[in-house]
Amino acid sequence: MTPVHAQQRIADLRAQIARNDALYFKQAQPEISDFEYDALKRALGELEEEFPQFLTKDSPTQRPGDDRVQGFREVAHRQKMLSLDNTYSEAELRAFHARLTKLLGTDDLGYTVEPKIDGLAVSLTYENGQFVRAVTRGKGDRGDDVTANVRTIHSLPMQLAKGEMPRIVEIRGEIYLTAAEFERINAERAAAGEELYANPRNLAAGTIKQLDSAEVARRKLEIVLYGLGYCEPAVVESQTGLQKKLSAWGLPVVEKSWTVHGIDAAWAAVGELDRLRHGLAYGTDGAVVKLDNVDQQREAGATDKAPRWAIAYKFKPETARTRLHAITIQVGKTGILSPVAELEPVLLAGSTISRATLHNEDEIRRKDIRIGDLVEIEKAGEVIPAVLQSFPAERPEGAREYDLFAAVGGKCPVCGSKIARIEVAAEDATGVAWKCQNYDCEAQRAGRLGFFCSRRALAIDGVGGVVAAKLVELGHVQDPPDLYDVPLGTLTTLNLGTAEEPRVFGEKNATKIVAAREAARGLPLEKWLYALSVPDVGETTARELGRRHRSFAELVYSPLLRAVLKKAELVAQREWEAPASRKNPAKSDEDKARRKELCTRLEAEIAALDAGPLAGAPGDIGPAVAASTQEFFASVPGRRLLKKLQHLGIDPQGTVAVVGVFTGKSLVLTGTLPTLKREEAEQEILAAGGKVSGSVSKKTSYVLAGEEAGSKLDKAKELGVPVINEAEFLRLLAGG
Ligand code: IVH
Repeated sequence: MTPVHAQQRIADLRAQIARNDALYFKQAQPEISDFEYDALKRALGELEEEFPQFLTKDSPTQRPGDDRVQGFREVAHRQKMLSLDNTYSEAELRAFHARLTKLLGTDDLGYTVEPKIDGLAVSLTYENGQFVRAVTRGKGDRGDDVTANVRTIHSLPMQLAKGEMPRIVEIRGEIYLTAAEFERINAERAAAGEELYANPRNLAAGTIKQLDSAEVARRKLEIVLYGLGYCEPAVVESQTGLQKKLSAWGLPVVEKSWTVHGIDAAWAAVGELDRLRHGLAYGTDGAVVKLDNVDQQREAGATDKAPRWAIAYKFKPETARTRLHAITIQVGKTGILSPVAELEPVLLAGSTISRATLHNEDEIRRKDIRIGDLVEIEKAGEVIPAVLQSFPAERPEGAREYDLFAAVGGKCPVCGSKIARIEVAAEDATGVAWKCQNYDCEAQRAGRLGFFCSRRALAIDGVGGVVAAKLVELGHVQDPPDLYDVPLGTLTTLNLGTAEEPRVFGEKNATKIVAAREAARGLPLEKWLYALSVPDVGETTARELGRRHRSFAELVYSPLLRAVLKKAELVAQREWEAPASRKNPAKSDEDKARRKELCTRLEAEIAALDAGPLAGAPGDIGPAVAASTQEFFASVPGRRLLKKLQHLGIDPQGTVAVVGVFTGKSLVLTGTLPTLKREEAEQEILAAGGKVSGSVSKKTSYVLAGEEAGSKLDKAKELGVPVINEAEFLRLLAGG
């Protein structure tokens, strides 16, 4: 790899890591497994080692993650909370031992081996045995104060049991939810039609970061303690001693740990833990091997990110073999047909699995997976299980290659409309998928409604998969905004079950939805734009667009989007007309001269766009996004959506800060102006950063008055508000 390539790849990896950090730490909604995440970090670490010139202090390989969210007080840790280095093989674990042997000058090293709890790290402070504070890891040096929420944990004593008591001690541990509690909460959410949490860790993290402690108390959080931070005076000499001490103080500690001598015994303990970890109360994704002796720990020291005396060994994602009975097709909100493996139920990583994702048809072909096959499935972290491979040698006779188009008879399995092959851009590879062409397909409608209400969009909690599907199926909702027209009574009596076995939604849930949908009215343009599933407009793009337009009305005729498209056109033309163009080389000197001149003109036009409407425009808004946004709002469904919003009186505002001569000023219009129409004058005021108000008050900056001005003019005079005419208005606009 060339340095230039490496630099690009490093930047790319850092961006991917940052994105996934935010998903994991701040939103508690990771999209990739820990294994994949670690692979990204590893790849980055290797490149930085090969190209140290690109290594920076703020690289994610050099610092722990950041879990801080808004709304909590930040508190500094007395002693920094570090993270742990990960290893994935016996050889790497032995290398850890070899490093310590060299560092400490002896290979007679005692270790403890403990479960690595898959929860959320916290630091508890006790002063003279009294609990005073709980803080998340945050950035390592300072985190969020979650004391009130941690107080709701029943198994945590607020007062340490008597005995030798440090004046101040920081005790480190992990907050988690048991599998049973996780399932109870998710079942409750499913019944209420709310989005489900992907795994216990995310739910625990989401819970501890709730601002409402009463809500937190309703979920039974648990805690386990395993480490020390600042401690005055020192009270233990070994990790084994610490566990005993924590236990004597009445604190919950790890159920099982091993105190061993040498790396062979440590490796054996890791294997034992792997065998019994599914019986533990908490999710365990690895083992932590720690030097037992505290003096040796101190001697080994730490880097900025992790101690040298401890290491995490991550267990491999578990796999199982089972039969593939059938492949069913799910239709998502964009109409993409996704194949799902229907499996003979099998126990994997502590739960029974009967379905797994097959991604797309290409992948089924690539892995040569056929109905009836024996397949190997994997559950990496807590994400949806996936089919890894098939075993063609054990294939039943006559099993044929899978053909998605034939399997669905060339039609959408939900609405029966035509399907078409389209290119889809995935993270790192592009693939081909089949797509239902009917925007009004019930599956797409339900998918869009569910998305509209999801936490990342308008957060109308309670309209998850089942409820959304029912509302669409019964014809209550076509487009997401129709949700506003569904009366409380209809929601209350909505039957989520069957005619024989009814299960009504209930008034409590229905009332929650009504409150949430009203609250969503006030959300900014960026949220609404994202919520409406405009093709190609993801969260980031929606944010950028929402910050550069003040309303849907402005977005529909967006000068910015038009400029983006115009620029793309000019750039293409310039490339084509360049005298040395490969596809269209100049034919004569005369041709060359003419085209050179033309290109200079095109350059100037491009520069004018860059300096004008495109100034400060982000790269996220490229020609593809611009075209699809414009097309969507000009299309029948797009226009229908806007009309419905208008009808509902929903007019979300962009978060633009326009700076102009009227920034911070409020103007009132009255009477007929000589040349400007009322709307034109309003547009000018908005474009100059001002607000247009309907009535005059002391806060009004100017009253713009024309012919036949009425009571507003009188009011202005009465309050001493400056009155201007059109000519004066235009002069102000021109900056005079
Ligand atoms: S000891 C100086 N022990 O895993 C760091 N950490 O990936 C000492 N964790 O930051 C950490 N179980 O939040 C330790 N038995 C255990 C653990 C454990 C889970 C967490 C901890 C740490 C993270 C690193």
